[in-house]
Amino acid sequence: MFLTLEGIDGCGKTTQAHLLVERLRETEKSCGGVVWTKEPGGWPGGEKIRDLVLRDGLEHPLSELFLFLADRCEHVLQVIAPALKEGKIVICERYTDSTLAYQSWGRGLPLEKIEELFRWCGFPSPDKTIWIDLPAPAAYHRMAGRGRMDRLEEEGTVFLEKVRSGFSFLAERDRGRIVRIDGEKDISGISAEILDTVLAFLHQ
Ligand code: TYD
Repeated sequence: MFLTLEGIDGCGKTTQAHLLVERLRETEKSCGGVVWTKEPGGWPGGEKIRDLVLRDGLEHPLSELFLFLADRCEHVLQVIAPALKEGKIVICERYTDSTLAYQSWGRGLPLEKIEELFRWCGFPSPDKTIWIDLPAPAAYHRMAGRGRMDRLEEEGTVFLEKVRSGFSFLAERDRGRIVRIDGEKDISGISAEILDTVLAFLHQ
């Protein structure tokens, strides 16, 4: 079972991923284990690519795209594929939908080219994707309150709203896989909804 969590910066993914992992470790004791991971940088050595892509002054949208893809190639090979092979539940914060939403809707790169690269790279498809949807201004305020802004986040609400419309398009197109959760609810409401969705899928 390969599960991804998606959404714009500041939507609450990290909090929700941790709650979900905790709950699944309690309820799914009979499965081979629950692995939490994230992109970019979720493999040994991945911090270097993460720093490069998030902090250094990249100017070409393709350099950014290829760094995210290189990061994912290693992440899939070293972490995701082995865990899935061992029958574990893998929960990954951000994956291919982030690349489509940020690099296509955000940066203007063509969607079909990026998807062609995904196929060429042989990335496994998530079984289920939770999209925590929050309007950009709300997400932006949360991040500003935390004093945590990286390069992409500093581009602000216009950029994030474009990315959000990307997630919205993908959720409509891939509605069998992507489930939209209202990110404006409180933390425990969101967490209960995510857990229900995941358990229903696991035990169908
Ligand atoms: P991160 O600090 O992990 O943000 P968050 O905690 O919100 O997930 O930064 C990841 C940033 O990288 C985020 O702005 C989204 C962006 N990103 C892409 O643009 N393309 C991608 O393929 C991925 C995986 C992330």
